[in-house]
Amino acid sequence: MAEIEKDFRRSVVYQIYVKSFCDSNGDGLGDLPGITSKLDYLATLGADYLWLTPFYPSPQRDNGYDVADYCAVDPRYGTMGDFDELVAAAGERGIGIMLDMVLCHTSVDHEWFRRACAGERRYQAYYILRDGRGSSGPGDPGEPPTNWECAFGGSAWRWEPRLGKWYLHMHDPSQPDLDWTNPEVRAACADVVRFWRERGVRGFRFDVINLISKPEVIEDVPGSGGACRALVADGPHVHEYLRELVERAGIDGMVTVGEMASTDLENCIRYTRPEDHELSMSFSFHHLKVDYAGGDKWALADPDISALRDILRSWQEGMQAGGGWNALFWDNHDQPRAVTRFGGREGIGERGGSWEHVGKMLAAMSFLMKGTPYVFEGDELGMTNAGYDSIDKFDDVESKNAYRMLLERGATREEALDVVNERSRDNGRTPMQWTAEPGAGFTTGTPWLAVPATHALVNAEAEVGVEGSMFEYYRRLVALRHASDVVALGDVRFLDAGPAAPRVIAFERTLGEKRLVVACSFDGASCELADLGCDGMPVLLGNYDGVPAAGVLRPYEAVVWGEA
Ligand code: NOJ
Repeated sequence: MAEIEKDFRRSVVYQIYVKSFCDSNGDGLGDLPGITSKLDYLATLGADYLWLTPFYPSPQRDNGYDVADYCAVDPRYGTMGDFDELVAAAGERGIGIMLDMVLCHTSVDHEWFRRACAGERRYQAYYILRDGRGSSGPGDPGEPPTNWECAFGGSAWRWEPRLGKWYLHMHDPSQPDLDWTNPEVRAACADVVRFWRERGVRGFRFDVINLISKPEVIEDVPGSGGACRALVADGPHVHEYLRELVERAGIDGMVTVGEMASTDLENCIRYTRPEDHELSMSFSFHHLKVDYAGGDKWALADPDISALRDILRSWQEGMQAGGGWNALFWDNHDQPRAVTRFGGREGIGERGGSWEHVGKMLAAMSFLMKGTPYVFEGDELGMTNAGYDSIDKFDDVESKNAYRMLLERGATREEALDVVNERSRDNGRTPMQWTAEPGAGFTTGTPWLAVPATHALVNAEAEVGVEGSMFEYYRRLVALRHASDVVALGDVRFLDAGPAAPRVIAFERTLGEKRLVVACSFDGASCELADLGCDGMPVLLGNYDGVPAAGVLRPYEAVVWGEA
């Protein structure tokens, strides 16, 4: 087996949304043998690790993030034998498997919750149960214990008659939160991680892990909204619980990443400083909210690029100063496709046009900032938003709830569909586009989620090995990340692109004598660039054919000066 204990700072992680990657048996769902069949493609790209989204048994209310059994494979995705084969075949190519650990909540179908409902006190203590407000006594639910709202809309509490209590669910009602103050819960979660580590897994992604430690006192959020994430995020014992988990599961030194909801810089430094023995790196999401009008995901606005610049600067320079480490990404299975979001709507699948330039510009930025780049399946092809013509094509629980909410707020069906098309998580969950055939080469059956029309132009067959394609550009960036010390390890500092370039983000990376300067334009028009101190430096990389014009960036142009 090839050596796969790699330095995560020099590595590239490729995220696979298992349900949508490759279907080996024609049932319309991606599966583990499908992934194994595509390992050569992933090795060609140069991926070091594959993060697989949950494939554990689940009623699929939240597409597998509602786990019914942490230590098994859902038959719709294959068998444990298929998993072992995938780990071995990936290992032969020097690729490590990272698994998604959803330890903040279980599914209501998990044995722990079922036994709790059946009356076993031991398992009732695994969950966060409360009496209702204003209840007159046993059997009377009263009102939810607090005004907390869950992430997908509606109260964060569900009355369970068999328990005679309300249980807390920060996400869907089918996802009851675990009570991490219970040492038995913490030990059981560490056992789950150890189980997979012992099966040859090389790393882990921890789902909403900064929500595991709830406030000491669970009480109303002030005001009328009920948005409780900020109250719950980075709770009082979260660092202690994480350290304990890492130690007990024996994963210190493995590549690990925490998904941190509504987090802050100070906590992310603590999550990821090596000396704290918590995680290798963290995902934060502030940079992906710059197009939420008034902070509302379901209200559209153009991306605010100066806000984006400020957020990236503070996270890049702040994590560096504190000794933390960022996970770098634009897309995942919870996000619309960044290429569409940031303006790549013209010339889809062709050379030239904003699609190509935005896709490559975003890629250059995330590969050249300080941190570990994540490629979400299809990014490397330039996959776009789905562009569905009917709400019936959507699957995601959050999107459907939002559509209903928008209609209730007075939007027309057309307006509501437009918003959901822009913002739905399903944009990141459409089948991987392997070919131009019906089914996109993802399945020979009926795909579980409709294939976007763009697959006819944007697909692996049209791009792998084709000079100038999005795929080949990504491949170059991966190689740069592997080969260059200044890219992997250099210091980062943001630069001022000048008053005539308000939609340009520029930064430098330095290591010893080496210096790289990166300028990325989010502007659909050309703009004049201030002096970034790179006169006479060679152009290492661009996203247009030919050399950039001096002092000017063309629409969505990215230029990197210096020597790697
Ligand atoms: C974050 C996951 O990425 C998302 O898909 C899921 O719905 C929530 N956590 C709840 O597990």
